[in-house]
Amino acid sequence: MIRFEGVTKTFGTLRAVDDVSLAVEPGTLCALLGPSGSGKSTLLRLVNRLVEPDAGRVLVGGEDIAGLPRVELRRRIGYVIQSIGLFPHWSVRRNIATVPRLIGWPRARIRVRTDELMELVGLDPGQHGARYPDELSGGQQQRVGVARALAADPDVLLMDEPFGAVDPPTRRGLQESLIAIQRRTGKTVLFVTHDVEEAIRLAGTIAVLAHGKLLQLGPPAEILRRPASEEVANFFGGPLLGLHLLQATMIADRADFTDTQEGEPLDAAAPLETALARMISERALRLPVIDRASGRRGVIALTDMVAR
Ligand SMILES: Nc1ncnc2c1ncn2[C@@H]1O[C@H](COP(=O)(O)OP(=O)(O)OP(=O)(O)O)[C@@H](O)[C@H]1O
Ligand SMILES: [Mg+2]
Repeated sequence: MIRFEGVTKTFGTLRAVDDVSLAVEPGTLCALLGPSGSGKSTLLRLVNRLVEPDAGRVLVGGEDIAGLPRVELRRRIGYVIQSIGLFPHWSVRRNIATVPRLIGWPRARIRVRTDELMELVGLDPGQHGARYPDELSGGQQQRVGVARALAADPDVLLMDEPFGAVDPPTRRGLQESLIAIQRRTGKTVLFVTHDVEEAIRLAGTIAVLAHGKLLQLGPPAEILRRPASEEVANFFGGPLLGLHLLQATMIADRADFTDTQEGEPLDAAAPLETALARMISERALRLPVIDRASGRRGVIALTDMVAR
């Protein structure tokens, strides 16, 4: 759905993006992960032509975007910018309706769509629809930013640190909403973050960037098991990298479903970190597990943290 082929972007003598090749499959979420200044936002902005490459090309849905009119391209792409960027003098409803209004949707259709989107991102249309951005909390504003990006039903969603400015529990809530939205709508998402845990939680694929270069590309657990270089390993926490593996591996992948045990079961779809945390707080070496989808029951043991 999105493909970078040997893309380079320089600002003066600085190579902000340096010969990056990367493909994002339809319906997946790819996280661009790297330290500040590594070129994440620049790479994202190359997709909607806010930035033009000096070399290489970018394809969206198989088409070279250099040949597409910018306006048409941007209609197909939702964009959540690093600083949210809501229009302060517009109500929440009007903010969400920016693109549909621009492309001339009828009033009634816009009304239905904005209500639907507010529900989707967990805002009550009656309560929040007429408010102005400064009458919302930071997390609520970020929800409006996501709803606005989804408004005209784009295939591709570009999100630049969309949940940066909120406290950890709110952030977790927003991340869970995004996972649910992405599952439900099948959007292709390119998501910028410098937060390792956020990338692990959200992404099917992580692209690790540093000084404009793509250092490694792959599913979170694969990168954590086999970091391509010391630089990658260090970015994932160096000696603490193994702890992130407990976030990237699900209980279902390690539990023993031929065994059962009494007690309040853990959700098999949760990461191993959840099981380890409960073992520590309950001083238990084994805990019951349930796979909520199939109803299967099993057991997870402390030794399963390492391997099964
Ligand atoms: N318009 C511009 N003109 C000159 N230099 C720029 C421009 N945009 C970005 N840069 C430089 O390119 C480099 C990469 O910037 P970019 O915004 O892509 O980084 P980032 O990975 O998104 O960082 P952060 O996590 O801090 O947002 C930085 O050194 C930045 O100063
Ligand atoms: Mg940035």
